[in-house]
Amino acid sequence: MKPLLFKSPAKLNLFLRVINKRPDGYHNLQTLFERINLFDDLYFSTVKSGDITISCDHPHVPCGPGNLIYKIADYIKSTYGLKYGVHVKLNKRIPVAAGLAGGSSNAATTLIALNKLWKLGLKKARLIEIGNMFGSDIAFFLHDCSWALGEGRGEIISPLDIKSKIDHILVVPKKKMSTPKVYQALNLKLTNKKDNVNILIHSLKEKDIVKSSQFLFNDLEHSILTIDPKLDVVKKRLKSLENKGVSFSGSGPSLFGLTKSNQEAKDLCDALKKRYEQVYVVRTC
Ligand code: C5P
Repeated sequence: MKPLLFKSPAKLNLFLRVINKRPDGYHNLQTLFERINLFDDLYFSTVKSGDITISCDHPHVPCGPGNLIYKIADYIKSTYGLKYGVHVKLNKRIPVAAGLAGGSSNAATTLIALNKLWKLGLKKARLIEIGNMFGSDIAFFLHDCSWALGEGRGEIISPLDIKSKIDHILVVPKKKMSTPKVYQALNLKLTNKKDNVNILIHSLKEKDIVKSSQFLFNDLEHSILTIDPKLDVVKKRLKSLENKGVSFSGSGPSLFGLTKSNQEAKDLCDALKKRYEQVYVVRTC
C-alpha cells in the first residue's frame, strides 16, 4: 500500500509569560501559539513484522527510541496490544531544537496518523491525554486551530477566534537551544508580571500589525541571551530592518517579526539571506 502522507506544521509563540515554577519542576505559563506553514512531511506505512522504524533526511534527528515519533508509536502499540509496526519516513524542514516545536508537532502528527492508519477510533481527548505524557507543546497541534492560548505547562489549550492570517519573517540562527537549559537559566525575579496577552489578541483580531508587534513578548529571552549573548546581535539586526518589533519563539533561538504583507517578508528575507542560512517567509495556517 502507498504510504500515507501527513503534514506536520511548526508553531511560533507570540507571547510567553512564565508565571511560576511548579513542584514537578515545570513552569506555569501563559502563551499565545500560532500555527505556521513551515512543515515536515511524514509518510506512514504499516509494517507486518511489528518493528517501528524511522528514516530521516536530516543528520541530527535520532531515528531510534530517542525520537518522539518512535516513543508515541511504541506506546500505542504496547497499550493497545497491536502486532504490527510502522515505518515512518520523515522529511525534515522545521529546524531542530529551534523553539518551533518540530519534534512535538511530529509527535502529534504520529498520534493522528496512527489513529487513522490502525483504525483505533481514539477520541481527541484521549489523543491529547497521550500527547501530554510526552511533551508540553503536543496538545496545541492536536487541536485543529491556527491560534490558541496555552496555559498550565503549555498543554491546557483554548483555541482563539482570530481569523487573521499573518505574514512573518523568521530567522533561525544555527545554534541549538536546549529547552531545559533555558528554563534552568531563568531568573523568576526578572519575569514580567503584566498581563498584556489580551491586548495582543485584540490587535491580532484587528490585524493591526504595528500594535501587535509592540506586544510580542517572551519571558525566556533573558535566559536565551544569557546562554548565547551573540543572539542579541541577530535580534538587533532583524529589528533594525523590520523596525516594528521582533521576538524569540519558545526557548529560541528562532527570531521572528510580523510583516504587513508577504512582499515585505520576502524583501526582508532577500536582505537577510546574504548573512544567514536559515531565513523563511512564513504565514499563519
Ligand atoms: O514538555 P517538554 O518535554 O517540551 O519540556 C522540555 C523541558 O522544558 C522540561 O523538561 C522542562 O525542563 C522545561 N519546561 C518547563 N516548563 C514548561 C515547559 C517545559 O520547565 N512549561
